[in-house]
Amino acid sequence: MRKRPAATFRPLAELKVVRQSEQSIELKSAFHTVRVSVLADDLFRLQITFAKKFSSHPSWAVCKTNWPAVATIVRTNASSLSVGTASATLRLSLGDGALRFSDSEGRALFNAAPGKIGFFGREARVEMNLAGEESIFGLGETTGTFNKRGLIREFWNTDILGHAPAIYPSMRSLYVSIPFAISLREGRAAGLFWDNPGRQIWDLGQTQLDRWKMSAATGEIDLYFFAGPGVGRVVSRFTDLTGRTPMPPLWSLGYQQCRYSYETQERVEEIAGAFRKRKIPCDALYLDIHHMDGYRVFTFGKTFRHARALTRKLAKKGFKLITIVDPGVKDDRNFGVLKRGIARHAFVKEANGKKDYIGKVWPGKARFPDFLNPQVRSWWGAEQKKLIDAGIAGFWNDMNEPANFALPTKTLPENCRHETEHGAIRHSAIHNVYGMEMARACRDGVLAHQPDTRPFVITRAGYAGVQRHALVWTGDNSSVWEHLADAVQMFLNLSVSGVPFCGGDIGGFIDNTTPELFLRWLQFATFTPFYRNHSNLGTIEQEPWAFGRNTESIARKFIELRYQLLPYLYGLFAQAHREGTPIMRPLFWHYQNDPVAVAASDQFLLGENLLIAPILRQGATARSVYLPRGVWFDFWSGQKSAGGQHVIAHAPLETIPIFVRAGAIVPMLAVQQFVGEKMPDVVNLHCWPGAGELDWYEDDGQSLAFAAGEFSRRKIKSRWGEKGGTLRLGTTVGSFPSQAKNWRVVLRGIGGKFSVQADGKNLRSRFDPATQVGSFEVSNAPGIVDFQFRTAGVKK
Ligand code: GLC
Repeated sequence: MRKRPAATFRPLAELKVVRQSEQSIELKSAFHTVRVSVLADDLFRLQITFAKKFSSHPSWAVCKTNWPAVATIVRTNASSLSVGTASATLRLSLGDGALRFSDSEGRALFNAAPGKIGFFGREARVEMNLAGEESIFGLGETTGTFNKRGLIREFWNTDILGHAPAIYPSMRSLYVSIPFAISLREGRAAGLFWDNPGRQIWDLGQTQLDRWKMSAATGEIDLYFFAGPGVGRVVSRFTDLTGRTPMPPLWSLGYQQCRYSYETQERVEEIAGAFRKRKIPCDALYLDIHHMDGYRVFTFGKTFRHARALTRKLAKKGFKLITIVDPGVKDDRNFGVLKRGIARHAFVKEANGKKDYIGKVWPGKARFPDFLNPQVRSWWGAEQKKLIDAGIAGFWNDMNEPANFALPTKTLPENCRHETEHGAIRHSAIHNVYGMEMARACRDGVLAHQPDTRPFVITRAGYAGVQRHALVWTGDNSSVWEHLADAVQMFLNLSVSGVPFCGGDIGGFIDNTTPELFLRWLQFATFTPFYRNHSNLGTIEQEPWAFGRNTESIARKFIELRYQLLPYLYGLFAQAHREGTPIMRPLFWHYQNDPVAVAASDQFLLGENLLIAPILRQGATARSVYLPRGVWFDFWSGQKSAGGQHVIAHAPLETIPIFVRAGAIVPMLAVQQFVGEKMPDVVNLHCWPGAGELDWYEDDGQSLAFAAGEFSRRKIKSRWGEKGGTLRLGTTVGSFPSQAKNWRVVLRGIGGKFSVQADGKNLRSRFDPATQVGSFEVSNAPGIVDFQFRTAGVKK
């Protein structure tokens, strides 16, 4: 039985150590049970409850529980407990509950003054100090500023139409809740995660400049502290804890076209035909809610009676078809899914645990599958078979906060009851994991039907760890410039919160876009992981050709550029899958000691080598760009600039400022090579002067064979300058036979002709004075290629 919580604030105090094992120490006071555990050198966990025992519920976020033992030094005396590893120390004052988490040199990373951690009734409270120069990033999907310091954030998944009022500080919640933050100060990064999927509120120095006040309405204090000090280390550890994004099918990195809705089969075919006729690459088309029979999930209505034939026809043209899937099951007693759900007691119950809760969504009255229950997840997964049999290749999980039109709170009543494998639980305690568990049911279900195909799953709602199951798209933005600008920080913060595969509706969802806004959005999105155009019911057409020929030809150029960059992007996805590294990165990812880079909120890196500075204002044709230390080249003109300064980049409507890091090797396809599912046999390696390396990754792009070693990975290194240089093609690892039989090396920004030798033999080379680009072809065999410039060398 739980002890009745007191209605006064009960801070941690008068603690006694009661138990100590190798990696964890348990303490008690008259009101609290506390456990400090060391999971890794740089990862500590602090749990506090007002009950005698900790909840037996395993976490929904955490997927790694078997941590190898770490060398730990535990010191206790009458006044304090100190637990230390080579990287960090956590110190707790036994008398007054003050807490300090510090790095190996004793510098505080997080600290709470005496009496600032405890419970008020059932509400858990933690108050930390914020240092003067501390910036806060992460927090998953949030509108507003890039640096979250000064914000109040409520973690409570909510359907907010139009992200309105997205840009105002009063907007506290969105569809996804990830209570994970990265603190950056004086070049040092540390992380904090409060694993509690109930309602949490974080005030990051808004009401008191130097205080970070956190509260959770229900549940335990379950804090994870990450010592860093590299941002990469914090995120890699966070994704070690909560999981990493699966390898996506290669086709899903291509351009995708959606709208609410393409209402008939004929219209879908017309759209597909238009893409091919106009030679605009596109890999996927979407069916929004109108494809269903009266919004009944997993059905096709009259206008899609021949769905199987449609997907076959589309497949011939190289398109995948994706359907939306909403959780609300129409409350129609004759509807098979509802009947089977009722028979399995699959729906979320009212507080008394007897009747199903009935809310309202698109189909009218609806019941909500209880995705917290593993049997319900597998039932739901099995129901997806109908779509899979119809040839549907991807699943777009929407409205899964869950949205509920029946109540002003827009979601399920807080006292609804879920049946989990660990007993009944109130909705308020798990609200933020509902959508993630739907995405899990979806992914697992698809895998059960197609065990050797990579599922493609999108979700709107999520919690920490959502990246294991689905990509996150940021829902209903609006066609306004402010939302384009906001998307930059939103994707960057999502990316450092463990969700590298993310993106938003290109052009804006709510309201009508303009040709200029559409193009600027598309240009930006070309460098974001998920690349999908989507717009609302009743808005003007938003396909790339909808705004006339000029807009269409610029749009085509960028969609082509996206496809050219596929091998580069794919390598970044492989890295994200292995290490949790974001694909789209804030500048601080690579330059965390540079305060100007840390603050840069309107530009970003795609991988380490491409710096993208999107145009985010109406009418703008130039902007200031911060180039971090080193040497950078303008992607378009080849012009060289020293880093560590701001430069003005010109970008008339047909272009976007892109800078390339010196020494970069960027694998790119030629425009004619777009094939969707496999790499072509010649890949261009675009090389810029300097020293650099490429981590080439390749696999079949669709199956799970890579997990058993069927991939091809190798290092390609280059070092060159004025006189020439060398390219080293490393040996390959993995059993996948590389499709890239030849590499076409493209030397960018050079001043004249050159000669090339490989294995002592001269190779044929070309130099184009107009573009100042040199090129030669080499086979994919490992080896060293030397090249010498005959005349002017590298362009100045
Ligand atoms: C929600 C989704 C949106 C979709 C619409 C209709 O608003 O966020 O993308 O088009 O529902 O299904």
